[in-house]
Amino acid sequence: MGSSRLPASLEPNALARMIEARRRGGASIVDLTESNPTRVGLTYAPDLLLPLANARALEYDPQPLGVWPARAAVAADFRRRGIIISADRVALTSSTSEAYALLFKLLCDAGDRVLVPHPSYPLFEHLTRLESVDAVPYGLDYHGAWRIDVDSVRRAMGDRVRAILVVSPNNPTGSFLHRDDLAWLSEIAAAADIPLIGDEVFADYRIDGAAAATHILAGGDVLAFSLGGLSKSAGLPQLKLGWIGFGGPPDRVDAALARYEMIADTYLSVSTPIQASAAELIESGTAIRAQILARLKRNLESLRAQAAAFPAISVLPVEGGWSAVMQVPSVGSEEALILALLEKDDVLVHPGYFFDFAREAFIVVSLLVEPPLFDQGVARLLARAAGSR
Ligand SMILES: Cc1ncc(COP(=O)(O)O)c(C=O)c1O
Repeated sequence: MGSSRLPASLEPNALARMIEARRRGGASIVDLTESNPTRVGLTYAPDLLLPLANARALEYDPQPLGVWPARAAVAADFRRRGIIISADRVALTSSTSEAYALLFKLLCDAGDRVLVPHPSYPLFEHLTRLESVDAVPYGLDYHGAWRIDVDSVRRAMGDRVRAILVVSPNNPTGSFLHRDDLAWLSEIAAAADIPLIGDEVFADYRIDGAAAATHILAGGDVLAFSLGGLSKSAGLPQLKLGWIGFGGPPDRVDAALARYEMIADTYLSVSTPIQASAAELIESGTAIRAQILARLKRNLESLRAQAAAFPAISVLPVEGGWSAVMQVPSVGSEEALILALLEKDDVLVHPGYFFDFAREAFIVVSLLVEPPLFDQGVARLLARAAGSR
């Protein structure tokens, strides 16, 4: 029925069916995929949402790119991360997902292509398809650290490629965009006259450094878009405030902004109360971000300490982000392992194939989970993956 932008079958997969069956049977599952910050025992100030009641929000001022004070607050937040951008190069969106949809409308016709990293965020499949755009993969390789396989980017280029997407730090590999990768990508993008789209939603969460890390707007020679939002930077996904920072040669930015404004004017999707209180909400993110970072570091340390007892399992380096990747013995398939873990140990994890890892066997866990549950789930996971359970 209807559009081929949707998958032909909406049948749940084997994992979803088993989760449903276990829950129906009353099992209490330790969910090591939990990445909703509002459900992991963080402390949110009870008056955090008071600014939403601001009387300024009683007047509707429809501005396609967002009201000026909100755009200025986002520009100030970019500056906090060391990125200098003026407020007139900032556009508000209701989420990063929406930012992708708007940018694909701006850049692509039906059947055009964008390059996406593999492994990475699984939602790209739907975000592209729903805009009638094809996602063409390029590789990230792991050699003690994850780096962009620049040759795979070159191979994936072609006349219908309209943008190159980068996620930094990437979900789930945690790897940041490095300065030399940005230089290569900018050269490739400039030669093809296409922009770079940088998903920097996790950029605040630096864990193991990444001295050579940079950000997508640092190149300057090509049109680039930096995507972010309160969902990750402030642990407030329910507020639905995201943004796009535009960078690159001024004539390109101005042309892109003018056309983008027309698209955004068609939807005007960011609510007035959110825009009126954006500065305060961004400010309240500071305390939540600090809690999240402490949680990520604590859980990663615990994972490493527990995994040290299992020489066949390695926890890959985490430069940043909210997840950790483990390489586990590939005795059976990833799918068999995750299903056994769920059925016998009541622990839910993501398999590497969910994120399009090039080979097996990898397991991905969220570092956001509440510590006692995290430790319990990890203990069961390691024992099962090492074959000692
Ligand atoms: C890489 C990446 N980008 C974007 C998002 C979603 O952000 P938003 O809630 O702003 O749509 C996620 C959520 O997990 C993500 O992992």
